[in-house]
Amino acid sequence: MTARKHRSRWTAALCLLALAIAPVLADEAAPEPPPEGNLGTTSGAEIYAQVCQGCHMPDGKGAVGGGSYPAFAGNANMASSRYMAVVILGGRRNMPAFSPERTIGPYFEPVFLTDVQVANVINHIRTNFGNDYRDPITAAEVKALHPQKGTPE
Ligand code: HEC
Repeated sequence: MTARKHRSRWTAALCLLALAIAPVLADEAAPEPPPEGNLGTTSGAEIYAQVCQGCHMPDGKGAVGGGSYPAFAGNANMASSRYMAVVILGGRRNMPAFSPERTIGPYFEPVFLTDVQVANVINHIRTNFGNDYRDPITAAEVKALHPQKGTPE
């Protein structure tokens, strides 16, 4: 009688364990990142404030000292939104890469930007800091400019 009671308790414990593990196993396939990525926002202004202004400064004037960070104000390179997307996605020298495939594992590495976020932050820069470019870039255009997986430039 007591032995039987013990066994059923074990069975119950094992069932609970299986229930606890099941969702973890089912979750294993990597989910698509949400459009707001790991920053939780798609606003170009907020992305700029959270990620870019530390180097490029809140007023977009850049900085010199311990490195040289280009200004966005009065910078003729901002005429090309595609050029900007390539630099943001793939990085360049001291400019970090923000495409998900260039960061190490989207959910653990600092920050990656989705195509929507890259487009929005570019459009933000091109219509602020004294810039007045009226041809916004779309997420689909950004998507086409991704660096190839695992091939650093
Ligand atoms: C860790 C500092 C750092 C951060 C953060 C950073 N940048 Fe940069 N960025 C740089 C540096 C340094 C360069 C110059 C790269 C080079 O040597 O060509 C640069 C260059 C650029 C350029 C090209 C400018 C030009 O005149 O050719 C763009 C566009 C740009 N960054 C956009 C961004 C955006 C958008 C963000 C935020 C999502 C961002 N950067 C975040 C450091 C940074």
